Amino acid sequence: PTALAGRHLLKELDFTAEEFLGLVELAAELKAAKRGGIEPRYLQGRNIALIFEKTSTRTRCAFEVAAVNQGASTTYLDPSGSQIGHKESVKDTARVLGRMYDAIEYRGDSQQKVEELAAHAGVPVYNGLTDEWHPTQMLADVLTMTEHCAKPLTEVAFAYLGDARFNMGNSYLVTGALLGMDVRIVAPKAYWPAEEIVDRARALAAASGARITLTETVDEGVRGADFVATDVWVSMGEPKEVWAERITALAPYAVTMDVLRATGNPDVRFLHCLPAFHDLGTKVGQEIHAAYGLDYLEVSDEVFESAHSVVFDEAENRMHTIKAVMVATLA
Ligand code: CP
Ligand code: NVA
Repeated sequence: PTALAGRHLLKELDFTAEEFLGLVELAAELKAAKRGGIEPRYLQGRNIALIFEKTSTRTRCAFEVAAVNQGASTTYLDPSGSQIGHKESVKDTARVLGRMYDAIEYRGDSQQKVEELAAHAGVPVYNGLTDEWHPTQMLADVLTMTEHCAKPLTEVAFAYLGDARFNMGNSYLVTGALLGMDVRIVAPKAYWPAEEIVDRARALAAASGARITLTETVDEGVRGADFVATDVWVSMGEPKEVWAERITALAPYAVTMDVLRATGNPDVRFLHCLPAFHDLGTKVGQEIHAAYGLDYLEVSDEVFESAHSVVFDEAENRMHTIKAVMVATLA
């Protein structure tokens, strides 16, 4: 892990498979140590700034708990609580926070912003989600996969169903390619990752031995999968107006028991970064139910609540993996 001292975590493409897996391994060690009540504190006296221009439950809490467990403190800057982007440039913000903090987390719409922060902060910068990538989520997902599937990762197959043009689809494709996995993107063609990202993934796959499939056909895409994953159909920052079009296009790609059966794998596991529209009991869910008469969106409640679902292990692993990122880059 010390090989990552001072490094940023901006996107998966910046890492080698060894570096990425080193973080996952460190997370597993830190998880075991915490469970055993013998967690070492590598970050005593460190200070971490958390910039959130979009809302969060898991990512924010993961950073805060991980930091405190390791003896570090955090400052949470909410969308209205800082000058960044409104009154002060990203470059100036980076230079100010870099003088006070040992590392900076950023969540917001723009990958360019997090890259610019990293260019000027002088301390490690972590991408806590942009429209393009969700690298800390990928570390948690890979840790969860290793916990729930005994095969080596290079033999693991996973299928991502849904809108694959955004952070989760991009990150799954590239992470699977980097790690030499069997990765399937299952969506209408219009919802596949951008050509440029597919090209990057194919280049990685050529080196790693990964198998990459992009398909519109659910049965073909999920056959033999060890994991089936999805994400919300409308992401943070997108306008309400896109719901109708998304529901029409993506409804055939909702993860139901039929989809899990189509894998042919009785032990198939379900992944979701969360939050999920598995029942429509939330405020937003009720509005969608009223407008479209649906009971669930990207995943049925039956799947979500089934023994196949490992989404809460995945959520917990956000904390252990984010801790590993901070320890590896700062300790
Ligand atoms: N999965 C994830 O990033 O969750 P939050 O939006 O709650 O941080
Ligand atoms: N695609 C989702 C992921 C949330 C963790 C979003 O960007 O809102």
